[in-house]
Amino acid sequence: MDNRPIGVFDSGLGGLTAVRRLQELLPHEDIVYFGDTGRVPYGTRSEETIRRYAREDCQLLLDRDVKFIIAACGTVSSVALDILRSLPVPAIGVVEATAKAAVSATRNKRIGIIGTAATVRSRSFEKAILALDETVFVTAEACPMFVSLVEAGWIDPADDVAIAMVRRYMAPIKAAGVDTLILGCTHFPLLAPTIQAELGDGVTLIDSGRETAIHCAAVLAEHNALANNKEGQCRFFVSDRPDGFTRTAEIFLGRSVSEEVESISLT
Ligand code: DGL
Repeated sequence: MDNRPIGVFDSGLGGLTAVRRLQELLPHEDIVYFGDTGRVPYGTRSEETIRRYAREDCQLLLDRDVKFIIAACGTVSSVALDILRSLPVPAIGVVEATAKAAVSATRNKRIGIIGTAATVRSRSFEKAILALDETVFVTAEACPMFVSLVEAGWIDPADDVAIAMVRRYMAPIKAAGVDTLILGCTHFPLLAPTIQAELGDGVTLIDSGRETAIHCAAVLAEHNALANNKEGQCRFFVSDRPDGFTRTAEIFLGRSVSEEVESISLT
């Protein structure tokens, strides 16, 4: 048993998709979340910069005595896995569990991947899928503008701008005839209803936040490191003004979080 918190970080608020799942699966766990809202997006930056940010984000969580770290960011998971593996506490990214779920879900062995430019360039999901089943056909599209939509909170399935953007980005995915699509960026599950409506019910969407939360629960159980707090508490840290984060976090988590959000400086 280990009552220290689980640390979760992302470049912004997309990692809340993993937090929501963690809270459902592990209600006794305390969670410390860091959203690097002052430096989002990561996905358009160089590998070197993303890796430096990843180191700093992990240190911020380690300073808060976390027992486990989740990089709830497809971009960091894709280009800084070795950094996660070198930490003094166990840490996971989103690629491994998500690729596994996609390979089990596909029937026609055609899997699509959407993520940031850095994620798609790294081919991380593709490599993980092909390591599990080399006969799978994989197609990948970078959808960087989805991140801006989510950070702005334009996630309503009836939002005209979101619908138009999803239609445009999904055109090559549709043309490739995939039956499974990896939402390889933790921001994207917030657009899942719009994406599902565009692709139709025949396509299974794989939510990287959800799969990673399930993976985390399994690793903690395996290491006998689950918590038994009465009711898990969540604290949120952001690297810019908290108001935008708080507003969208509340829509997404369905509860007030303003008391728990604190702005901190990374330097
Ligand atoms: N959170 C990032 C990811 O999952 C997307 C946003 C960004 O570009 O920073 O890849």
